[in-house]
Amino acid sequence: MLKPFDPTTPLPPQEPGWDNHLTFSYKEIDAFWLARWTPETGWEPGRLYEHRGAKLELSPGAAVLYYGEGIFEGLKARRTRTGKIVLFRPQDNARRLQASAARLAMPAPSVDMFMEAVIAVTRANARWVPAPEKGSFYLRPVVIGSGPILGVAPAPEFLFYVFGCPVGPYMGGDRVIVPYAAHRAAPYGTGAAKAAGNYAACLRPQKIAKELGYVDALYLDAREDRYIEELSGANFFAILKDGTLVTPALGSILPGITRDSVLTIAREIFGWIAVERKLAIEEVINDAVEAFYTGTAAVLSPITVVNYRGVDYPIGDGQPGPRARMLRQALEEIQIQERPDLWGWVVEVA
Ligand code: COI
Repeated sequence: MLKPFDPTTPLPPQEPGWDNHLTFSYKEIDAFWLARWTPETGWEPGRLYEHRGAKLELSPGAAVLYYGEGIFEGLKARRTRTGKIVLFRPQDNARRLQASAARLAMPAPSVDMFMEAVIAVTRANARWVPAPEKGSFYLRPVVIGSGPILGVAPAPEFLFYVFGCPVGPYMGGDRVIVPYAAHRAAPYGTGAAKAAGNYAACLRPQKIAKELGYVDALYLDAREDRYIEELSGANFFAILKDGTLVTPALGSILPGITRDSVLTIAREIFGWIAVERKLAIEEVINDAVEAFYTGTAAVLSPITVVNYRGVDYPIGDGQPGPRARMLRQALEEIQIQERPDLWGWVVEVA
């Protein structure tokens, strides 16, 4: 049952030190936001509900439960050192959600509706937005086919909801492994959508990677089993001996917003050559001096070892590289308004 969130009701106290040692994990906090879509009404006006103890009631026939008609987004609210709360490129998340929805024949909220929801959730939970050195507030917008269906077809009803959690670092390890006989996405499939099923396809390769001592799987393309695609929840970059920054071209990979930000920062702040193209695994093994992965959750983390066909290949000297560090620092400074935001990426919400 969902209880409307009443901002005048006193909130339970936060446990002391709630923001010490934050991890990237789910937590029920004060309020989340939900709206319903039906063919007759379109998107009904959304509103905030109590997050603690909230359960969604779904028909056993809900399309998301077995046809996987579900898409999502991830974005962060951050507290600046001057006490403001800011979002990073939220309109880009809204537009990507629309693209994902189109791929899965779902209705998408408008950019305005998306903004209304993420701002409402951030403001209602402002006390859970950690100080900049302690973490960030991760927002998870989701659209699911909630209506019941039996044959393969789009759901007759949909839900759009947004919850948020205070979070610490995601992943953090620096060794990755190319999985044996496992791909994340195929050409013309759903790889470019932020579709729930893409992440389901990663669970087994990721589990095996972790069991073998790697932080994640690094997927190759499904056509030739040769060109790098991405990790289970992050995009891939390499810096080659000639200084070029290379990342796999879009197609069947997620068009990451952090990926795009890193390309822009590399080109426009540092003046580096940054290209999006096919990147063979052999090229990374033989020619990369640095590698790293990016994502909203992961931010930007170095890769020091790539395992391919049973061999650990160090990248460069096997240590985190200076260029990855420069990019991460610039990105994080922009995100908390400590470096000029030349592109209008940062949106103040409180
Ligand atoms: C994000 O980086 O925000 C994502 O959605 C990736 C997810 C697997 C944590």
